[in-house]
Amino acid sequence: MSQRKIPGSLFLIGFMGAGKSAVSACLHKRYGMELLEMDQEIERREGMKISRIFESRGEEYFRRAETDLLGELQGRSGLVVSCGGGAAMRPENVALMKQAGRIVLLRAKPETILKRVSENDDRPLLRGRKTAEGIRELMDRRSPVYEAACDLAVDTDEKSVDEICREILNRVREDS
Ligand code: S3P
Repeated sequence: MSQRKIPGSLFLIGFMGAGKSAVSACLHKRYGMELLEMDQEIERREGMKISRIFESRGEEYFRRAETDLLGELQGRSGLVVSCGGGAAMRPENVALMKQAGRIVLLRAKPETILKRVSENDDRPLLRGRKTAEGIRELMDRRSPVYEAACDLAVDTDEKSVDEICREILNRVREDS
């Protein structure tokens, strides 16, 4: 694998549970990229969990915080940004990501997502939707937007986190 530097930053997008956090943590630890986990950063700034932000301030407030954060990343380089699953749904956010680097979509089947999210209750948009059908329904609405936004897409089902990282880095470097 070439060690050529990736221009700009990498923005990992995709459905909740697609592996954005695990893959970005690996790109940070094993491949030395600087990590920004959007949800965690917003939680840190607001001093509360995402679920609490949705309850007390509303989803729109959270969405504005996402856009503000992406706006702050302009001109930075070498970051891997783990985006919340809804971040790429706003055209202005996609434009900000494109200006700052490459957008990588992590794809996963609803059944895979269900396995990955079943233990965790922190995602307000999955409440009452934790079945393969419930996930598929939301995914069908989001996938066309994710697919249109991304510069490259990686299927994650049945792959290890390290395999996914290597695939991303190889493909990004091939395109550079
Ligand atoms: C959301 C995904 C979550 C988090 C919030 C909303 C979404 O992030 O930002 O609960 O709209 O898909 P993850 O994709 O990291 O779970």
